[in-house]
Amino acid sequence: MNPTRAEIDFTKLAFNVEQIKHHIHRGQQKKKIKICGVVKANAYGHGIDQVSKKLVDLGVDFLGVANYDEAIRLRKLIPNTQILVFGTLVHSKLEPEKYVSILHEHKLTATVASFDTAKFLNEYSTKFRNKFKIHIKVDTGMRRIGLDYKRAYRNILQVAALKNLEIEGIFTHFAASELKNKSFSKLQLSRFNDLLNELRKAGLEFPIVHAANSGAVLDLKDSYFNMVRPGLLLYGYYPGNGIRNKIKLKPIMNLKSKVTYIKKVDKGESISYGRKFFTKKPVFIGSVPIGYGDGYSRLLTNKSKTLINKKFYRQVGSVTMDWIMVELGSSHKVKIGDDVLLMGEENRFKLGADKIAGICGMIPYEPLCAVADRVERIYLNG
Ligand SMILES: Cc1ncc(COP(=O)(O)O)c(C=O)c1O
Repeated sequence: MNPTRAEIDFTKLAFNVEQIKHHIHRGQQKKKIKICGVVKANAYGHGIDQVSKKLVDLGVDFLGVANYDEAIRLRKLIPNTQILVFGTLVHSKLEPEKYVSILHEHKLTATVASFDTAKFLNEYSTKFRNKFKIHIKVDTGMRRIGLDYKRAYRNILQVAALKNLEIEGIFTHFAASELKNKSFSKLQLSRFNDLLNELRKAGLEFPIVHAANSGAVLDLKDSYFNMVRPGLLLYGYYPGNGIRNKIKLKPIMNLKSKVTYIKKVDKGESISYGRKFFTKKPVFIGSVPIGYGDGYSRLLTNKSKTLINKKFYRQVGSVTMDWIMVELGSSHKVKIGDDVLLMGEENRFKLGADKIAGICGMIPYEPLCAVADRVERIYLNG
């Protein structure tokens, strides 16, 4: 009913996945590199359920989520694809046996970023026929979570000795792969490779090795190993400006609403809260029911544009919780009920999350993740 909605086009998602597949296999036709589609944070605001199902249809091998709540929700919909939980196990209100049995039941793959987590999972997995699948996270420079690369060797050997765990994978995460200058990413990569070599000498090899997030997928081929973990690229955006030309992408979300009210305002009147905009002449003002309560940031106040009938109109006055106002000029052809594009692309008209983020001093991830629950997601070409 509410005219504000996010239209998500699965043809464009399929296009982006194809672009990624083609790019990572360029020059290495014989080697199959798996894709872990990152769908955490409600698939970057696009809707975790529908996007994940589609990604599985499109041949993605793993789904990556931030925490166990996201993973359990996803498993109810997606019976077979492996779900890797990037986050750590946090204390639960449940008894440990119950907690670990839920993780087993849902066939989740855990990240192990400390020996304590490994011990915990091992201890409470004794009664299960299948070993608990884990991927070991190595901190090579992100300094968020992970076994410190300098000390990881001993810890990993200890983890490998635990009877109820299966170390299926090992991975690291880049801190600055979105930059054109890849020197820190290369340093992280060499730390990771050194560790893998040491472990290999000790007889430890891992079926799945992964490191590349979107920035590295674009232009750090040596980091692909046998799985990559793109997030932002799937949704049609580049993580950094210096590395845009590597593949073509299509933003998959168009955030839209409708003009629902039009009025004429005299010269010198103020528009919206705080009186941050005054009309310079008599103009028509259109009101559009989207605001910061929908994820349209208040930082856009007086700074953004909207697209109506293939023409840009500027947004004027403070963004409010539920409305923005747009200046339609002293004469116009806009009608109540006309569509308004707030974020996304239509033909050659670009109003992407990267542009919105640029105005707000954000990164493109933020305006996408910010799209609120109350905004209906509509899936096109499903
Ligand atoms: C562990 C991990 N891998 C991969 C990604 C995907 O990152 P991006 O969206 O930059 O591709 C993320 C997201 O931050 C992450 O936390």
